[in-house]
Amino acid sequence: MSEEYKRKYTFGEDYGTSDYKYGPITKGEVPKVVENRGYFPDKSALMQRVMGEAKDVVVGRDIPLYLEAREDLSTRLVYPMRNGIVEKDDERSWRVVKELTLYGLREFAVSAYDFNGFFVVASLSAIAPRYMYEKIFDIHREIDEETRLVRAVTIIPQPLAVAIAHKIPTCVVLESGHGNTQVCPISRYPIRNAIVALNRGGSDANTLMAEILKDAGYGDLAQEEALVRRVKEAVGLVPRDLDRAIEVAKSEPHRFRAKYRVPGTRIEIDLAEYSWARFLVGEYVFNPNHEIFQSFFVRGMPRPRDVKIGDVYFHGMLDFGEAIVSSVERCPIELQPHLYQHVLLSGGNFQWSLPPQLSDVAVDSATKIKMLLREKGIENVKVEMAKEPRYSVWRGCIVYGYAAPANYEWNWERMEGWVHFRKK
Ligand SMILES: Nc1ncnc2c1ncn2[C@@H]1O[C@H](COP(=O)(O)OP(=O)(O)OP(=O)(O)O)[C@@H](O)[C@H]1O
Ligand SMILES: [Mg+2]
Repeated sequence: MSEEYKRKYTFGEDYGTSDYKYGPITKGEVPKVVENRGYFPDKSALMQRVMGEAKDVVVGRDIPLYLEAREDLSTRLVYPMRNGIVEKDDERSWRVVKELTLYGLREFAVSAYDFNGFFVVASLSAIAPRYMYEKIFDIHREIDEETRLVRAVTIIPQPLAVAIAHKIPTCVVLESGHGNTQVCPISRYPIRNAIVALNRGGSDANTLMAEILKDAGYGDLAQEEALVRRVKEAVGLVPRDLDRAIEVAKSEPHRFRAKYRVPGTRIEIDLAEYSWARFLVGEYVFNPNHEIFQSFFVRGMPRPRDVKIGDVYFHGMLDFGEAIVSSVERCPIELQPHLYQHVLLSGGNFQWSLPPQLSDVAVDSATKIKMLLREKGIENVKVEMAKEPRYSVWRGCIVYGYAAPANYEWNWERMEGWVHFRKK
């Protein structure tokens, strides 16, 4: 089996809590993205049969066309992952994962004469338990039996994929997506005992943004999560120092005014005299412990909770600086200074915009992390933002698949290598 073939047909899959990113090596820098969710239509409904094939589960861009009554949504619309984990016996969720995987592979099915299945590199959370690896292998095996689209498959942890994409063998990766944040030191391999997992991600910033929208008089719009997310991404800012930023923003309301026009509608959101609150959402992501957030908790906003999923403990309120330090300090002392030399940020939750005219009080994510580390007494650090933070896991999958020798068989002790489904 030729290396050349494998390089040509490498396929990457990043299973995120909110989005599934996938595509073959020929996609270049940017994968395809669909929401990681599936819809189970009411199959008994007559119209489902009259209007065409009755599907068990629908995934991908067509979901909106199948949605039925609103009150059904919570039971029929399934988001399979929580904090990057699918429960072992949650059959509906695994059904969605399989359907999405098939959907992605089908989209890129190749009709070239030499095509005989992809070399698939899937990426899971660093704390994904073994049964998830087994399930992902099984799913690909089943898909291959049905479609001949998968010749071999391997799985790598998301933080490792980020390090690979940037070709940095010794580093700490902070991967912060929608549902959770993983801090993972890497010294060629992920140092599993030192991983720190947080139950905090972009979705928590959405929760806070919704409260702010209510305060500003947009209570009705605050119900729609997708809209709240767009507002957050458009107006949210990360403050250098929260108290100072709020003070400056209140004294110069014009300069900090936050407005967002919803594309394709007549709706314009204007935070007006609440515009200073745009600094709250950014701060909250990095450190939710400022006293100002208390008032939101007191009135009922859920606080990021400590949770245990399987054997893994997810911290709710740990600030990102503290999280990095406690992770690095579980590594050998000699290695620690080298780890601080490369702190790599990836995931959409670090993609905050920084308008140049506000850079006296707002900062980018890398600067914020440096400041949090300085507070903990760590001075000599280099913090770098991944190039395409939402796609770096997928890019790492592609780079890995390109480089990993095709004849290296999967090994459960080392958790690496390819599972081959057929020889030819
Ligand atoms: N410009 C932006 N400013 C702030 N947040 C952003 C921006 N762009 C994306 N995000 C946030 O990033 C999150 C999505 O990130 P990502 O795609 O990395 O998550 P995921 O991989 O689906 O989830 P996870 O890694 O937790 O399993 C969302 O909460 C989104 O609102
Ligand atoms: Mg992710």
